[in-house]
Amino acid sequence: MCGIVGYVGTEPAAPVLLSALHDLEYRGYDSAGIAVLEPDGGVVSITKREGKLANLEAALNALDASAATTGIGHTRWATHGRPSDINAHPHRSCAGEVVVIHNGIVENYAELRARLRAEGHEFVSETDTETIAHLMEGLVKSGRSLLDALRITCSQLEGSQAILAMSPTQPGIIVAARVGNAGGIVLGYGKDEMVLASDLAAVLPRTRQVAFLADGQVAEITKTGARYVNEHGSPVDVPVREIDIDPASALKGQYPHFMLKEIMEQPESLSDTIQSLVSQEPPEVHCADLGPAEARLASIDRVVLIGMGTSLHAAMIGRRFIEELAGIPAEVDNASEFRYRDPILGPNALVVSVSQSGETVDVLEAMNVARAAGALQVTICNTQGAQTTRVAHGTVYTRAGLERGVASTKCFTTAIAALYALALRLGLAKGRLGPGELRERIQDLTRVPDAVGRALDDMGVYTRLADQYHEAEHLLVLGRGLAFPVALEGALKMKEISYVHAEGYAAGEMKHGPIALIDPSFLTVAIATTHALRSKIVSNIEQVQARGGRVIAVITEGDAHVTRLADQCIEIPAVAPLLEPIVATVPMQLLSYAMALRRGCDVDQPRNLAKTVTVE
Ligand code: AGP
Repeated sequence: MCGIVGYVGTEPAAPVLLSALHDLEYRGYDSAGIAVLEPDGGVVSITKREGKLANLEAALNALDASAATTGIGHTRWATHGRPSDINAHPHRSCAGEVVVIHNGIVENYAELRARLRAEGHEFVSETDTETIAHLMEGLVKSGRSLLDALRITCSQLEGSQAILAMSPTQPGIIVAARVGNAGGIVLGYGKDEMVLASDLAAVLPRTRQVAFLADGQVAEITKTGARYVNEHGSPVDVPVREIDIDPASALKGQYPHFMLKEIMEQPESLSDTIQSLVSQEPPEVHCADLGPAEARLASIDRVVLIGMGTSLHAAMIGRRFIEELAGIPAEVDNASEFRYRDPILGPNALVVSVSQSGETVDVLEAMNVARAAGALQVTICNTQGAQTTRVAHGTVYTRAGLERGVASTKCFTTAIAALYALALRLGLAKGRLGPGELRERIQDLTRVPDAVGRALDDMGVYTRLADQYHEAEHLLVLGRGLAFPVALEGALKMKEISYVHAEGYAAGEMKHGPIALIDPSFLTVAIATTHALRSKIVSNIEQVQARGGRVIAVITEGDAHVTRLADQCIEIPAVAPLLEPIVATVPMQLLSYAMALRRGCDVDQPRNLAKTVTVE
C-alpha cells in the first residue's frame, strides 16, 4: 500500500524523487522519506518526516544534495510501528551499509529481529522493514553484490514484499525485488537514467518505456539499464514495452481534486473504453487482448466473477450482463472470501477478476486459487501489464487513463462497460446473440458516454444537497436489481470520502431490519430509475416517508410521480435498461464529493485508506 520510488541518473535525485512521491502519495500518507547518494559513494543522506509529503518537502528545503544522483523515496501506509519520523522509511542497517524502502509485510520479522539482535544488531525503529536492511548488511559485508544480498535476503522473508535498496559501498546502483503480491515495481527506461516505482503514475512523467518486475524477480539498476535474475540468481529476460497513456492525465488540471477530475472525465473514459472494445459498422466486439482465452469461450458453462470494493460492485453488475447476454449461469464472490474457500470450478468454468490496479493482493491470491483449480481466467484491468493481466489467460482493458483519487470513479464505470463488452463476446461465442440484437446492444452502449455527460451537468444540485444534509451521520442507500450494486457503490463512496456511515441495501431487505432506523432525522437515498424495479422502490420510499424519514430519489428524467413523492430528486437521462447502472452511479459520486467538501474532508487522501491494497 506504500509508494516506493528509485532514481539513478545524471540529475539531482532529490527533486526527481519528491516529484514522484507526489504522484504516489495517494498510496499512503502516514510519513514520507528519501535517501540520496553521490555517484562516488560516501555517506547516504536520509531525510524523513511523519505525516504528509508537505512535511518532508519543508525538511528538504534545507538539504543541499545537488551532487547526489541516485536515490530512493517512500510514502508510508503504516502496518508495523505507528506513524513517526523514526518509523518512516528509508531504513538503514547499523553501519549504514544498506538503505532500504519497502512495501509489504515481513511476516516473520519478530523471529528475524530476535536473531539479529542476538548477533549484535541494534534496531532503531519498530518496523518490520528494518530487518531487511540488517539482513542485507551482513551479506554485503561478506562481499556479496547488492543484487545477491537482496535476493538471498528475500529467501529468508515470509510474506509478500516489494523492496528497493542501495548502498554507499556500491554507488550508482539500486536493487529491487518483488516477492509475491505485495504490489508491483515498474522500471522506467529513460535517457541516461532509470526510474522505478510502485506504479506507472510516478514513472510516466520521465519515460513511457517500461518493464514490470514479476514475482520472484530481482533487478539491478544503473543509469544505463537493468539486469534481472530470478530467485535462484539465474539471469531472466524482462520485456520492455511502450505504454500509451498520456502523462498529462496524471495532472489535476483545472480541478481542485483528482476525484472531481476523474468523475468529470467519465464521458471520455467511457468513450475510449467502448471504442476500443466494440465497433458499430459492422457491429463487432473486439476485446483484442483476450489471447488464448478467446478460443475457449464457446465451451464456458459457468462464470465466477471476483473483485474487491468498487471492483466487486462492478463484478456484481457484470454477473447480470453475462446471464442476460450470454445465458451462462454466473455468480459473484468477494476475492478475499473466494481465496480461502475451496471453490468448485469445473474445466469449463471461467473466472473473471475485476481490478483497476491489477495489483490488489486478495484478487491476485484468488486468481492463484482459480489457476490451481485449472479455470480459464479473464481479467478486467485499467493498468497495462499489471500482475492480474499476467496471471489471467486474457484481459479486457478499460481505457480510463490514470486514476489518482483514492475513491475509484471512472474505473468503476469503465469496468462496467468492459464487462458488458465481455458479456457480448461470450454471447457471440455461445451463439446466443444474432446480428440484429448485437447491433442494437452495441448502439445502446455507444449512447452511454453522452448520457453520463448530461448526468454530470449540474454540480449545483449536489452543493445544495450537501448544504442541507452535511450534518447527517447515517445514510441508507436503497436499490433493487441492477441498482443494488449501484446502491452499494454509492454507500462506499460516501463512507470513504465524507466519513458518513452509509449502508447500501437491497431495497427489499429494508422491512427486514433497517426500517427500524428510520426517524425524522434519518436520510435515505433511493435509486428509483425507470429500470430499477421502480414501482417496488416507490413503495420503499413511501414506507420511509410514513415514518418521517427524508428521501432523496435518483430518478429518470421526467418522472413526475417520484418527483412529487420524494423530498428531493436527482434526474438522470434514460439509457438501455442493462446500462442504467453506469449513469445511475454518477449522482452518488457527486453527492459524496459535495458532502466531503462541505464536511471539510480530504477528498483525495481519505484517512486510513490507500489506493491499492497490497497487504492483507
Ligand atoms: C474504491 O473507491 C476503493 N478505493 C476500493 O474499494 C477499490 O475499489 C478496491 O481496493 C479494489 O481495487 P482494485 O480495483 O485496484 O483491485
